[in-house]
Amino acid sequence: MTRLNNPLWLAAAETAYPRLSGPLEVDVAVVGAGITGATAAYLLKAAGKTVALLESDRVCAGATGYTTAKLTVGHSLVYRQLIDSVGVEAARGYASSNQEAIDQVARLVEQHGIDCDFERASNFVYVESAKAVSGLERELACVERAGIAAELTTETDLPYEVAAAIRIDGQAQFHPWKYVAALARLVDGDGSHVLEQTRATKVHAGEPCVVGAGGGAVRARHVVIATQLPFVDRGLFFAKAHPMKSYAIAATVDAGAAPRGMYISADQPTRSVRSTAGADGRRILIVGGEGHRPGEAPDADARYRKLERFMQDRFGVAQVEYHWSTHDYAPLDKLPYIGRLRRGDDRVLVATGFAKWGMTKGTLAAAMLTDAILGRPNEYAGLYDAKRLDVRHSATTFAKENGRVGLTFFRDRVRPRDGRAEIDALPPGEGTVARVGRKQYAAYRDERGELHTFSARCTHLGCIVGWNPADRAWECPCHGSRFAADGALVQGPATADLDTDPLPD
Ligand SMILES: Cc1cc2nc3c(=O)[nH]c(=O)nc-3n(C[C@H](O)[C@H](O)[C@H](O)COP(=O)(O)OP(=O)(O)OC[C@H]3O[C@@H](n4cnc5c(N)ncnc54)[C@H](O)[C@@H]3O)c2cc1C
Ligand code: FES
Repeated sequence: MTRLNNPLWLAAAETAYPRLSGPLEVDVAVVGAGITGATAAYLLKAAGKTVALLESDRVCAGATGYTTAKLTVGHSLVYRQLIDSVGVEAARGYASSNQEAIDQVARLVEQHGIDCDFERASNFVYVESAKAVSGLERELACVERAGIAAELTTETDLPYEVAAAIRIDGQAQFHPWKYVAALARLVDGDGSHVLEQTRATKVHAGEPCVVGAGGGAVRARHVVIATQLPFVDRGLFFAKAHPMKSYAIAATVDAGAAPRGMYISADQPTRSVRSTAGADGRRILIVGGEGHRPGEAPDADARYRKLERFMQDRFGVAQVEYHWSTHDYAPLDKLPYIGRLRRGDDRVLVATGFAKWGMTKGTLAAAMLTDAILGRPNEYAGLYDAKRLDVRHSATTFAKENGRVGLTFFRDRVRPRDGRAEIDALPPGEGTVARVGRKQYAAYRDERGELHTFSARCTHLGCIVGWNPADRAWECPCHGSRFAADGALVQGPATADLDTDPLPD
């Protein structure tokens, strides 16, 4: 598995499913083995369908392996925004669908005895500044209008004071890789298949649909695209959802020093805190935050240092063992896109736009897409309709986000300086993007001193990638594709590695 940095959940991750090596025919092809795809594949198989779960890397290698894995409806300050933009009924649907997803995970864990460190926990959205308390009180009123039982409190098990916190009980946390890997094991066999290192590159919608992937093609009545942003250029998703990156660190602490609640701060900077089971009865403390758009102010080293300082100042922990980062996609209007890829075609389905809350939304999406394939009604289908582009609520965000992508695209092409000297001076282990002649190059010098150069154009739609030194990755600011230092694709929507491109003489 390609690992960027040192993610806690993937420390012992190991799966060894075969690649697709020839034609295959099943009822449903599910592309992407994160929480969304693995859950959908499991539910479809449980409903009697044969399934092929196609994964470009290894099971759980995407955002699900780099998350903080809280299962909660307490999505920071979302309920006031939802009520203001789409109304109380929509907010109630959002709350109940996410709570049902938590209960669904709990049911599956129990039914199959899945060993995934599943724990019930309370969720707290807190502020430290007294000035922010009135905002939290207004949010609490909206949380309650959305049908969630919650209370305002100052009592937490954090080692620092909070000015107020919204507490919601009946939430949960788990180990995402252990959970997803267990679902994959339940999918494989009896006419269904888990196929790793199998990147889908094309989807032909028809009767049957055909998914083209490296070693062959899968024919299926339905296709579920569960790859975060869909890699096929249909349905306007590149314009309707934008990537948001964030970071996390983890360290082993004594059990008594670890909070058992799940926390997220609503004042700035955002800090997400939880703990999970460690070895010998100890706990692993996780701190996340430092969100930003990929490619914008990407000093990832500095961001990890800020999280480390927070862990040291607030919890007295100096030795951090794990660092990781990834991104998720934010929709225009706070609601994920779940359903048909495009109007009039009920065979190709999609789920994206989870806005960093995909443990519940990926789970609920899987249930909704299963219903769609089985022809069963689902009460949330209208709320999360993937085809919507409600201009009333999202026109400004739409214009801003797409203007930003356009600006990035053109600004990078007129970058003036010549970067040959910069590339020549690269120390081992470092990379840079620089113009030489008329072209932009992504140049990386490996630890042995050998220089590797690529075209800096992202293989998705041609934006210029940037270098992230902390994760040793090339990152695209437009739609979030990520490539390892050697140019290998790590995270889509791109479907190809960076093109090797030698510098001119
Ligand atoms: C730092 C951080 C912390 C987070 N914390 C939380 C949290 O506490 N709680 C919460 O609810 N959410 C959280 N999230 C969000 C959550 O992690 C994501 O929403 C969720 O993991 C998305 O799951 P997914 O299955 O849709 O996508 P992924 O897990 O990314 O799965 C998609 C899979 O598709 C594969 N793939 C991609 N392209 C192809 C292709 N062409 N062919 C075949 N396979 C392909 C990828 O390799 C990947 O394995 C967090 C996000 C971030 C960034
Ligand atoms: S991810 Fe779309 S251009 Fe790079």
